[in-house]
Amino acid sequence: MALRVGIVGARGIGGNHASAHMEDELSDLVAICDARKERSDELAAKHGVKSYATLREMLANEELDVVDVCTGGNENGSWHFEPVMEALEAGRHVLVEKPISNDITEAREMVARAAELDLYLGCNLNHYFTKPAEKADEYLREGMIGELGYCVHRMGFPGGEASYVPSDAPRSREFPYFHVKAFLHHPFSIMRHFCGDITHVQAFMDRPGFRRNAGELMVSVNSIHVKFANGAVGYLLSQRGDYTFGLGGWWSVEVAGSKGTFCIENCVEKVSYWPAPNPEDAAQPQNLGLGQSPEPVVTESGVTDFGTTFPNRIHAFLEDVTNSVPREKLRASGRDALAALEYTFAAIESYEEGGVLVRPAPLPTLKGDPLAQ
Ligand SMILES: NC(=O)c1ccc[n+]([C@@H]2O[C@H](COP(=O)([O-])OP(=O)(O)OC[C@H]3O[C@@H](n4cnc5c(N)ncnc54)[C@H](O)[C@@H]3O)[C@@H](O)[C@H]2O)c1
Repeated sequence: MALRVGIVGARGIGGNHASAHMEDELSDLVAICDARKERSDELAAKHGVKSYATLREMLANEELDVVDVCTGGNENGSWHFEPVMEALEAGRHVLVEKPISNDITEAREMVARAAELDLYLGCNLNHYFTKPAEKADEYLREGMIGELGYCVHRMGFPGGEASYVPSDAPRSREFPYFHVKAFLHHPFSIMRHFCGDITHVQAFMDRPGFRRNAGELMVSVNSIHVKFANGAVGYLLSQRGDYTFGLGGWWSVEVAGSKGTFCIENCVEKVSYWPAPNPEDAAQPQNLGLGQSPEPVVTESGVTDFGTTFPNRIHAFLEDVTNSVPREKLRASGRDALAALEYTFAAIESYEEGGVLVRPAPLPTLKGDPLAQ
């Protein structure tokens, strides 16, 4: 039976989630609420569902299984804590937009409370719910990458001096870490998805002259060096429309190991795999001239629309809840989102201290479920 879903927040992203739920057979979207009631009225009317001004009213009047929190706020995350906690206390499973919060204490509290109440808390870490990421997971699972060596990730919006428009949005205007907190959730979660937990972080950040001249505080360029628990190293370069990435499009991630390398380009579009030279196959080292690489296997997804990541990710959450997967197996969980935020706060601390090495706070331990064994 489809899960009964209520959405909190009816603006751009709430509308996006509503469409995904309407299209998904695992979802029965029953209501939407927004503090600006006219917004939920409009979105609810579009989809023929009920409209409320508050989550309290929505919970009092509807039998919901899942509350999907699509609020935003300062640094895109300050309005998440209240509705997430309210929904958890009411015994509902929760999917929350990213970043899980702009406040690390609140993020830790949400994750801890969901675990105490034995409820699912998922986060919309949608960027790795794609065909290229599925293929990359397969390369890792089948041992085609081998022992991990490095991960290089670039993620940011194309731009430059001529296209720069100072932002006056309250969510970003006075927040030097707007880009860091609102956006690095995605690349950090992708790096961790493929390479595991990060144990060391060192960061340099700045903004280009044209932002500085406009009086902007935001550090929009982030250069972050990391070490993973498994010993691999990693590098993340992110920027917010200050430059235009060349190779790999608006985001690319390359992961290399002792047996091969994959690189995802343009998020949804393409993944290439290069086998490491091997005496027994086509990429024999003796046949490679200096500077030559083995031929890659290129898989084009045929998808160019980043928007497809939303229904993909939402479907995965609905599927996990429907199948009652062990809580710790939830894909893109609140704990996964907390990890990305711990790395973000470690990067901020490193930058503020002039680039010192920072060890992110450990994640809550996974306890295991005796009933799932
Ligand atoms: N996953 C992605 O790829 C992606 C992309 C863009 C944005 N986002 C995230 O989506 C979220 C929402 O973005 P947006 O641009 O739609 O935000 P927005 O601020 O434009 O809209 C949020 C809506 O929530 C309502 N609201 C806030 N608190 C409420 C509460 N307690 N109860 C009821 N209504 C409440 C507001 O009135 C507003 O209409 C942000 O956290 C953002 O980071 C994710």
